[in-house]
Formats: sequence, structure tokens, C-alpha cells
Amino acid sequence: KHQIIIDNDTAQDDCVTILLGLTDPTANVRAITTVAGNVPFDRQVANAQITLSVAGKLGEVPLHLGCRQPMLRPWVSAEDVHGDGSGGLQIDLDPGAISEEHAVDALIRLTAEQPGEISIVAIGPLTNIATAVVKDRAFVKNVKSLFIMGGSNNGRGNTTPAAEFNFYVDPHAAQIVMDAGFEDLHIVTWDPITIRDATYSRAQYDRLTSIDTPIAKLFKKVCDATLDFNESVGIDGSTHPDSITLAALLHPELILEEGRYRVDVETQSELTMGYSAMAWEKFGLQANAHVAERLDGAAFYALLEQMLHTPSVP
Ligand code: BDR
Ligand code: CA
Repeated sequence: KHQIIIDNDTAQDDCVTILLGLTDPTANVRAITTVAGNVPFDRQVANAQITLSVAGKLGEVPLHLGCRQPMLRPWVSAEDVHGDGSGGLQIDLDPGAISEEHAVDALIRLTAEQPGEISIVAIGPLTNIATAVVKDRAFVKNVKSLFIMGGSNNGRGNTTPAAEFNFYVDPHAAQIVMDAGFEDLHIVTWDPITIRDATYSRAQYDRLTSIDTPIAKLFKKVCDATLDFNESVGIDGSTHPDSITLAALLHPELILEEGRYRVDVETQSELTMGYSAMAWEKFGLQANAHVAERLDGAAFYALLEQMLHTPSVP
């Protein structure tokens, strides 16, 4: 089984990713860590708890809270896209279900306990990962693989014309991670992978959300707002950047093409802040990442469908 930590800003597709990790027989989720991103931090924590609770894993899979703001820049919300990230669900917060250990320390400790065996799926801003890099240089070599959702490799953003949300919110952290020397770093982009290869029409979405399981009900709750937002900005369907990223780790055959790139993130210009420059090796730069270039969108849809049919989490 793949040993994984999901580092996330829990809203919409982050919830789906946690569900996918908990239901996929090839994955063993060792911990969930949260980082400032999509919606206010405490709301994200509640969303993570709701997701774990629907999966019957609250208090069983450790939940560690991480950095509450980006390194240098002010936090930017994506509530316009995701609402509160849970479709308005409420739960009584159970403080006992939250680990006392900070997410950064958990990332460092877990990977040090089993060097080269644990992979990280980083699907929010990279503040926790960059802080772990800075805090303990051994962290970089202890991580087996690092799968990141961030950036675009054709210059198109979703938060500004130039930048994708995760890299825009903490571009400095993203650059620290790009420079850190991770041996096996993979990137799933917003464009083209997410929107060109795996935007599911409302009819396809309705098929997924008509499945009658608790997991499918939560999926609909958390994803409805984003689908509405997408349609309002001309994206014709439901998008799943984060769960594609986990799927790329668990089922690499879903990635039909990938390239070796030198990836850097803009940290200076306000106009292009968070822009990801993805340069082919032929420019003479040393590659630091595998960037996914084509996804089997039908196979990923089938994976989502299979997950939503799971009656309960084993
Ligand atoms: C990324 O930002 C968030 O809205 C999603 O969860 C995803 O991680 C897409 O740009
Ligand atoms: Ca995310």
C-alpha cells in the first residue's frame, strides 16, 4: 500500500481527496495536515473533521493543524469559488479528534520514522511543506514522493490571469519547495490537466451525485458550489484538481503523458505573482519536477464513480 500524508486546505475537492485516500484499497492515509488556503482556517478544520467523520475515521486518522497564514503575503480566500467548502454542513467540533502536534512537526516526524516510505500529496498552498524543508533539511530526503497540485503549464491561471490559486496564495513557499531538491516531485496543474482533461458536464456530475451512499451525499454537498461557480465563469462542469493529484500517485497509468521540467514560481511581480514558469530541459536548465501533461479523464471519472459507490470505509 502507498503510505501517504494529505496536506490540504480542506474544502470541496480537498474533501474528495481525503475520501478517495480513505476508500482506495491501494492507499494507507497516515495523517491529514491542514494549511491556510481556500476558506478560513477553522472552517477548514471543521471540513476536515466532517469528511473524516462521514468516512468513520474521525479520531482514527490523525488530523494535524498547520500554518495559519502564508509566509510573506496576506492570506487570500477562495470562498467565492467554494462557499464554506462543505455546503453549509455543521458539526460539533470534537477537540479530542485533533492532534496536539503541529502539522509541520508531524510531516517531519512521520517521514523520519520511515525514511523513503511515505509520500506526501500537497493540495493546498505549500506553506507547511516549505516550513518543514526549512526546519529540517533531512525532511527532503526522507519523503518518498511529493505530489503537488499547483500552477499551470500553459500560462493560464484561475485566481489571476497568470496564477493558479495554490501557487498564488504562497508563492514564496512554492519556490522554496521547487528549490529544495525533492528526488521525486510531481505536479498536477490547473491547466491543462484539470480543466482540459477532466471537466465533467452537469449531466456527468448528476450521474455521480445520484449514487446513494453517505460518501456520494457528502461529495454532492461539497462540490455543488464549485460547479455553480465554474459555470458562472465559463467552465462547463465540475473540476477535481486535488483528487487527480492523489490519483496520479495511486494510479500512475491515469497520466498518459508527462514531461520533465524546471519549474519556478514568480515571487516578485504583482502582475504575475504565483505564475509557474515550466521550462523544458532543452533550455539547459536542470529539471526539478515531473509535470503531468495529459490525463485519462474517462478513467479518472470511473475512479470517482467507484469511490462514490463505496458503501462505507473499511
Ligand atoms: C486549487 O485551489 C483550490 O481551490 C483547490 O482545492 C485546488 O487545490 C486549484 O487551483
Ligand atoms: Ca486544495
